[in-house]
Amino acid sequence: MTLKIQIEEIEIEEIDNNIYELLLLGDSSKEMLNDYLGRSQIYLAKKSGNVVGIIVIMPTRPKTLEIVNIAVREEFQKKGIGKQLINYVISMAQKGETRIIEIGTGNCGINQIALYQKCGFRIVGVDSDFFIKHHYKEEIYENGIQCKDMIRMQMYL
Ligand SMILES: CC(C)(COP(=O)(O)OP(=O)(O)OC[C@H]1O[C@@H](n2cnc3c(N)ncnc32)[C@H](O)[C@@H]1OP(=O)(O)O)[C@@H](O)C(=O)NCCC(=O)NCCS
Repeated sequence: MTLKIQIEEIEIEEIDNNIYELLLLGDSSKEMLNDYLGRSQIYLAKKSGNVVGIIVIMPTRPKTLEIVNIAVREEFQKKGIGKQLINYVISMAQKGETRIIEIGTGNCGINQIALYQKCGFRIVGVDSDFFIKHHYKEEIYENGIQCKDMIRMQMYL
């Protein structure tokens, strides 16, 4: 449960442990998370009042935003929630000034690369050794592949 405390005119809300777990599912580096969370907007997908998914966006350059984190609780994955979260961000961005949406994922994230392409993202570059050089202390494996490179993807609106 999210704890809300009302103090005079401000409201302080503690990030629920479950939400932090979801954020870590989307990005295993606490250091990276703590770096971008303060500069980002967070949207939650809820089912019957419970948080089942999360998407985090951060403005990077003029008219550009990056999806810096996306995660769906394991038991709710492959039901279209991730796609809905991305489509929500796209439609929201289309209503504003944003012209480019970016997203990055590891070379091992075959399903993520499929999902992002289905949503309209194109591969625009590769940050070689990103996961080895930047803040990821543990080795990450997915689909039997070590996560070493960041696949950079973009969508023009
Ligand atoms: C990546 C993630 C957010 C996708 O959310 P999701 O709700 O499971 O995805 P969706 O159900 O919307 O899937 C949409 C498409 O992605 C693909 N896809 C997603 N997960 C897949 C899987 N495990 N196996 C095969 N295809 C998959 C499918 O092609 C699907 O396309 P379809 O609609 O044509 O069937 C979710 O799997 C997740 O939280 N993973 C762990 C955290 C993570 O990796 N975050 C991203 C870091 S870059």
